[in-house]
Amino acid sequence: MSGHGTPIPMISAPCGPLSGTAEVPGDKSISHRSLILGAMAVGETVVTGLLEGEDVLDTAKAMRAFGAEITRDDDGTWHVHGVGVGGFAEPDQVIDCGNSGTGVRLIMGAAATTPIAVTYTGDASLNKRPMARVTDPLALFGTQAVGRSGGRLPMTLVGAETPVPVRYTVPVPSAQVKSAVLLAGLNVPGQTVVIEQEATRDHTERMLAGFGATITTEQTEEGRVITLTGQPELKPQVIAVPRDPSSAAFPVCAALITPGSDVLVPGIGLNPTRAGLFTTLKDMGADLAYENLRDEGGEPVADLRAKFSPDMTGIDVPAERAASMIDEYPVLSVVAANARGVTRMTGVKELRVKESDRIEAMASGLRACGVTVEDGPDWWQVTGEGPGTVKGGATCASHLDHRVAMSFMVLGMSTQAPVRVDDGTPIATSFPIFEPLMAQLGADIRREA
Ligand code: S3P
Repeated sequence: MSGHGTPIPMISAPCGPLSGTAEVPGDKSISHRSLILGAMAVGETVVTGLLEGEDVLDTAKAMRAFGAEITRDDDGTWHVHGVGVGGFAEPDQVIDCGNSGTGVRLIMGAAATTPIAVTYTGDASLNKRPMARVTDPLALFGTQAVGRSGGRLPMTLVGAETPVPVRYTVPVPSAQVKSAVLLAGLNVPGQTVVIEQEATRDHTERMLAGFGATITTEQTEEGRVITLTGQPELKPQVIAVPRDPSSAAFPVCAALITPGSDVLVPGIGLNPTRAGLFTTLKDMGADLAYENLRDEGGEPVADLRAKFSPDMTGIDVPAERAASMIDEYPVLSVVAANARGVTRMTGVKELRVKESDRIEAMASGLRACGVTVEDGPDWWQVTGEGPGTVKGGATCASHLDHRVAMSFMVLGMSTQAPVRVDDGTPIATSFPIFEPLMAQLGADIRREA
């Protein structure tokens, strides 16, 4: 499934209890970073558990175009032979990042301080998304960018010949912007400083330290001040990618709303910058337990056990929690439709510039299925009437957005009539085994012939 070819409609019908173990794929954020940092190290980085979704495969293709040698063993182990900081060659082809904002923004940063010209493009979704949030700070290093109006792809970046270090306060809560600036700072003499007012996922900082860079984070009145010393020699790593909490969200939420369910989702990273959804679900009264809580590679990890939760209630989701669950609002809205009362989500304007306008995409589909949803520029709220009350019976548009498509498939598991999405192909960008994994738990999801 490519997300670029013929749409494949999918239907999810009400199903019996979901049960069993859901082994979700590797973390998408960490997978991108493993390939990019591996390509910027000197020597061979070995990666297991890499997410083999289209987004990450596009990043692997891009890293090869910059000169890294990347191979995959039959057992799924990946080998990345890096070219070193500043060692990227000028690609002789356009870099196509497909659907992936993370891929394109991180790669733009990584290449921005090497004097090469690179043209980037993506699919219809990515080519609508704002890139100035990355090219503005990269211009401070001396990088030039020319793209379509509104700072959209396709776009060419010419890397700075003699880049200067930068001190930059990120104006929107975005790990992609923070990471692009830090990756650009790698090939710059002196210290690059990034300040973020709200903590976003910190995989880049953790992994840069793991690869041997000198990087510090300090909480000050200005916010989180991250200081990177440029021109390190990055040392190759052996990386075991943890399973993705954002993918775990789908079987977890499906179990919570489907009568009789009891599902175990093992080995999920609970990095506090990623775990906001699970806190929110517990606040709503979900029967969700962390079992076997442990530390793996410096990250908290647990097995999640989710059981059908008939007594969940709507809550106000704190705005300050938004960054730690930004990718999970679509599926949270599905849970909210099955809880009792109003779930209000604020401080979420970033949802409007994801793979789709996720507030609009979810609100339209939920309304078509009989759910009351209200929204404004940076908030939305879903009114639920309890388990089994959502009518369903509608076709929802996925807008080339994997998380929107999967959320509607979860919705259909406990509606009165099946829910259809117009195109399920985007699911392959982040969760290529979604359909067999859900089927094995007992879901009834079919592709329309
Ligand atoms: C990501 C950051 C987030 C998130 C995306 C992955 C990352 O985007 O939505 O799925 O890996 O850095 P923003 O930086 O735009 O918030």
